[in-house]
Amino acid sequence: MAESGRLVVIGLGYVGLPLAERAVQVGWSVHGLDTCARTVSALAAGESHVDDISAAQVRAMLDRGFVPTTDESCLDTADVVVICVPTPLSVDGAPDLSAVHAAAQAVARHAHPGQLVVLESTTYPGTTEEVLVPLLEASGLVVGVDVHCAFSPERIDPGNAVFTLVNTPKIVGGITPACTDRAEAFYGGLVDTVVRAKGAREAEMTKLLENTYRHVNIALVNEMARFCHELRIDLWDVIACASTKPFGFSPFFPGPGVGGHCIPIDPNYLSHRVKTNLGFPFRFVELAQEINASMPAYVARRVQDLLNEHGKAVKGSRALLLGVTYKADIADQRESPATAVAAALMDLGADVAFHDPLVSTWQVRDLVLPRVDHLDRAMADSDVIVLLQAHRDYRTLVDRLPSVPLLDTRGILSGPGVTRL
Ligand SMILES: NC(=O)c1ccc[n+]([C@@H]2O[C@H](COP(=O)([O-])OP(=O)(O)OC[C@H]3O[C@@H](n4cnc5c(N)ncnc54)[C@H](O)[C@@H]3O)[C@@H](O)[C@H]2O)c1
Repeated sequence: MAESGRLVVIGLGYVGLPLAERAVQVGWSVHGLDTCARTVSALAAGESHVDDISAAQVRAMLDRGFVPTTDESCLDTADVVVICVPTPLSVDGAPDLSAVHAAAQAVARHAHPGQLVVLESTTYPGTTEEVLVPLLEASGLVVGVDVHCAFSPERIDPGNAVFTLVNTPKIVGGITPACTDRAEAFYGGLVDTVVRAKGAREAEMTKLLENTYRHVNIALVNEMARFCHELRIDLWDVIACASTKPFGFSPFFPGPGVGGHCIPIDPNYLSHRVKTNLGFPFRFVELAQEINASMPAYVARRVQDLLNEHGKAVKGSRALLLGVTYKADIADQRESPATAVAAALMDLGADVAFHDPLVSTWQVRDLVLPRVDHLDRAMADSDVIVLLQAHRDYRTLVDRLPSVPLLDTRGILSGPGVTRL
């Protein structure tokens, strides 16, 4: 049976805010706890910093009683707590669980019998059992007896209007079957379908399988793009043809590299876990990492070749980059490969400017790059144009292109002057 009551969502980012919004909608009394005072005061003022949630939606949440706060005492009365804090990599590439630790310690300080605590942050298998449970039990309460604890991988796809939080099946895996029951009841009131995993480890691993699958398949087509170019084969046409097979094939597309919070980061959580616990490498992830990470430099080399074909040197050339976010039609720049492409071109001596309808300022290393407002004029004034992101606005660009060479890394343009990756 679905439950309702008092919910605290910890971490009000791309994952936590949509969850809080849905819970408010279905009648939960929701506090959003975040350590970032700026985020909390912006939300309290009715502003949104997340692509999928509009300012109007934030205002509607506030009208229905949503309370963004930095004050952890809201945990005192919470029936359910969901942790949606970041899980980045440390400087040496190892999992950085400091935010999960901090959030779990805050929960433990206010834990009380009857509470359900769910971790949604992507992490290596074993985190819920080995990290979250001991931190919670430091409160003196026993997980599975006094409090329930589960993992539910987050599957938000920012900008996806078809598959949302509500109609994307939600996986839940508890520390005990009773914990899974409780998590199933909670999410059953928020989403259309809840899927029970055998336990927390299986739920954690599900997310990593999904992301590693994407990572490896993107690396596969990125590697193919390199030799298809040499063999004068249009890989996008190949993928379109292969996609007509009604079974056994899912299309993935090449590009200038991988970005965002998930694909470049999460598989490292898994390979690090395999290496430290078992002592051997997770070779698929390492190979995919190597191929995808080499793409920005490859794009820069293709730009160099393109200029060369037009009798120009990259040094001193005016290179215009179109679309610098990690994903089409999304403002999020986290881990965007555009940064590495720009840096590689700058290293080769190019003067780099950018255009992006969703980004007002963009910094590469210590330099704030010039942003062009007037796209047609800027394209005509460039020596080379590099399309890095398939934003909606660029899909019709082909009718407006000046006679300047253009490298399309996303395969959305065709015609004279356009070279695909
Ligand atoms: N963004 C996505 O598309 C996506 C998709 C799938 C999974 N995930 C995973 O979900 C988790 C959250 O990602 P996100 O994109 O929402 O991150 P985010 O950076 O957008 O938001 C995280 C929020 O948590 C806050 N925070 C950090 N430490 C905190 C603490 N100790 N207590 C309270 N708040 C704290 C930050 O201030 C920030 O507002 C990560 O593990 C990520 O890998 C993200």
